[in-house]
Amino acid sequence: MQFSSFANRYRQSTGTVQLMEDLGKATTAPGPIFQLGGGNPAHVPAVENLLRQAMTDLITDATRFGRMVGEYDAPGGNVAFREALADLLRDQFGWPLSVDNIALTNGSQSSFGILFNSFAGAFDDGSHKQVLLPLTPEYVGYFDVGLAETPIFEGRRADIELLPDRQFKYRLDIDHLDLTSNHGAVCVSRPTNPTGNVITDVEMAQLRTACHDAGVPLIVDGAYGLPFPGMIYTEATPFWDENTILLLSLSKLGLPGVRTGIVVATPEVIQLIRNTNAINNLAPSRVGPELITPLLHSRKLTALCDEIIRPYYEKRLRHALDVVNDAMAHLPVRVHKPEGALFIWLWFKDLPVTSEVLYQQLIADGVYVLAGHHFYPELHEGWRHQHECIRVNYAGDEAVVEKGLSLIADLVTRLYETGKP
Ligand SMILES: Cc1ncc(COP(=O)(O)O)c(C=O)c1O
Repeated sequence: MQFSSFANRYRQSTGTVQLMEDLGKATTAPGPIFQLGGGNPAHVPAVENLLRQAMTDLITDATRFGRMVGEYDAPGGNVAFREALADLLRDQFGWPLSVDNIALTNGSQSSFGILFNSFAGAFDDGSHKQVLLPLTPEYVGYFDVGLAETPIFEGRRADIELLPDRQFKYRLDIDHLDLTSNHGAVCVSRPTNPTGNVITDVEMAQLRTACHDAGVPLIVDGAYGLPFPGMIYTEATPFWDENTILLLSLSKLGLPGVRTGIVVATPEVIQLIRNTNAINNLAPSRVGPELITPLLHSRKLTALCDEIIRPYYEKRLRHALDVVNDAMAHLPVRVHKPEGALFIWLWFKDLPVTSEVLYQQLIADGVYVLAGHHFYPELHEGWRHQHECIRVNYAGDEAVVEKGLSLIADLVTRLYETGKP
């Protein structure tokens, strides 16, 4: 069998493939597994109860059920959902949005593929542009979607600010942003996967001005942010303007299986998403929109995020930090200031092995995490820091997180002491 160059791009494993494969393995493995990898949200009982009730309402209504499973949706996504979301965003944040500013996809991962390839790669004038990631480490899911022959991402190392209590925070180096005509867009996740960073309002304002002045869009991936799921544990103001492309998702509030991504942008961008949906998928899935629209109208989703989801993850975070402080007190470890999302990012300074070796050794103990280097585009070769960090998902069962973190502490202690596992 001979494969085309297109297929060859997909025939090798990548960070994203490894992440999703590990999730599958961990759910079927025979021995005890401590799943601290992947990006699954928690099974929060109050959230699942509300969703189950909404699904029951949906399937017992013959008209709505028939529509959901028996009719293709609009290629730009379900109109009633988009109207309800525009209404919520106008209400909550005062953004001047209508249905024409919102499109749906089969998950944000699909949105990334369309948008990054639309603003980077080859242009009709012969130029080649890249998406600038001004604050790496950044979300691993971005890196593999480029369809161009040459890399479509340029990543900048974040500045490291050391903080009390063995924490640190990545900061934007605005003075060296150097946006040029080689950049087609700038992208940040806020809150950031993998670090739990929430880029400050001041940093966002600086980025916004720089993008506006350079005439390139600012893509803000709000998969963990506002208005849902609202996993932000610090002060942060969301924004949208005509130069911003805001990406939202239903996944992290508890619906990753449903695959609903949301793009909030100008009508020009929305039409692009609509057309690529029609060409590649005919239409996006109708399940998420039919399920969630009533919860947008009633504002029950907003209440759920405020009253259940955010406090739930904050409690989980405090527990994970307590375990780290306890089990790793003797180690030269720092934790990125955890301000959002559902991960802690551990930095083992001068670790005698790479985080990839640490990752492999941890699998032997049944512990799944993600090695730090996956969160950098290729350009960062040579920066030791990227091989000293791991990402830990703390959303799972408390006992699993506790045991997993203590196994990490044991292994890392041996590594520092002997250089060997
Ligand atoms: C920062 C970030 N954006 C987007 C996504 C993907 O969202 P979706 O499930 O909508 O494809 C994830 C998933 O882990 C993520 O961490």
